[in-house]
Amino acid sequence: MLSIPVNLSLPQSPRLVTALPGPHAKAIVERDRAVTSPSYTRDYPLVVSRGEGCMVEDVDGNVFLDMTAGIAVTATGHAHPEVVKAIHEQSARLLHMSGTDFYYEAMVELAEQLASRAPFPYSQDSQTPFPARVFFTNSGAESNEGAIKLARYYTKRSLIVAFLGAFHGRTYGAMSLTGSKTVQRANFGPLVPGVTHIPYGTHASLDYLEKQLFTTTLPPQEVAAIVVEPIQGEGGYIVPENGFLQRIRDICDRHHILMVVDEVQSGMGRTGRLFAIEHWGVMPDIITTAKGIASGMPLGAILARPELMTWPPGSHATTFGGNPVACAAGIATLRLLESGLMANANQMGELLQAGLTQLHQRFPQISLPRGKGLMVAVDLVDAEGNFDFKLRDRIIQEAFFKGLLLLGCGKAAIRFCPPLIIDSNQIQTALEIISEIFREGVPETYP
Ligand SMILES: Cc1ncc(COP(=O)(O)O)c(C=O)c1O
Repeated sequence: MLSIPVNLSLPQSPRLVTALPGPHAKAIVERDRAVTSPSYTRDYPLVVSRGEGCMVEDVDGNVFLDMTAGIAVTATGHAHPEVVKAIHEQSARLLHMSGTDFYYEAMVELAEQLASRAPFPYSQDSQTPFPARVFFTNSGAESNEGAIKLARYYTKRSLIVAFLGAFHGRTYGAMSLTGSKTVQRANFGPLVPGVTHIPYGTHASLDYLEKQLFTTTLPPQEVAAIVVEPIQGEGGYIVPENGFLQRIRDICDRHHILMVVDEVQSGMGRTGRLFAIEHWGVMPDIITTAKGIASGMPLGAILARPELMTWPPGSHATTFGGNPVACAAGIATLRLLESGLMANANQMGELLQAGLTQLHQRFPQISLPRGKGLMVAVDLVDAEGNFDFKLRDRIIQEAFFKGLLLLGCGKAAIRFCPPLIIDSNQIQTALEIISEIFREGVPETYP
């Protein structure tokens, strides 16, 4: 089992000391309600004060087991001391200078480290010793914005294929790729033109693309990119059919289309490999990443095969992207991922899936689990086997009231995306709480 090099002062299982939400949490939620945008989606009134490893403490002293990692972000756990140390040291030296106009070593160092790990073929004529070049961003959406721009710029083509159920972000380009929920699009149009969505994950869908769309409405010679999540994230942690990603690669090769893989949620070790696409041995042309890359500091990156990154100075840039403090956190994160956390994600993911399989056998409303590493989900279904999103929502609520933090995804799924530092006792605690909810009977309503 992985030893956690953290001076832990929080208990390692939930500790509830007030009714939820406690008085301080209640007051902050009220203040928030009066002043922040109503577009945020809070499922339960968790007001966090601090985090350590897999545990977070709220403002009333209640301690929760976090199976969300702040939406799959705190890869190394909350406030890992090595990440915090890297942030301290870098922030004391240099907070900002803008990598767009100046140089600093942290940005180059992280770019070298990411580029050397990119699952791309190395090309002799790329004029760099690395299989990738890197552009740093501040978020997943911004990484995808840049990737579309790069794909259009390089191919001189405008059309893009994306997938239903996909989530790529909420800025205009990224939102135009997103095919997740109508609330994310309604009244925001017109979106970026030229995006066609097809169903995710099946060979039938790729048959439709090749045999129907490419021969009728979508000339393949005008398609710049196919943008795909190797495991669909917000769409439900859907693992595609065998051969699906390889076939996209083949289609791209045949029509000189770029394969853009969105690893914002699935990347940075979460599935037990640095990039989830590596599970299938497929080499894409562009990878977008963010979320876990810097353990919680805002950072994202576009990795592209060097010969594609031909855009000239000024054509794409950002003031904050590649901030030195975020890059220092990224370097520390990568070191930790490779010195045990990715391996831990594999082991703990297997344990989690085995435990969820047992829960499925005891409670038929829980589907068999799916996913890879610590990117795992189950669906909640009714007696007829239909998706039951109300049951899912109630379980997420009830788990909160028992000190377990969960998030939903897809139509009626619960996702498990804890910090990769989670240990077997914490996995057992999470499973035990879910089991207890079913044993006691899921309440119909909440205070
Ligand atoms: C696969 C994927 N791409 C892009 C995004 C957008 O990332 P951000 O919220 O950092 O813009 C997300 C966020 O959930 C995601 O899961």
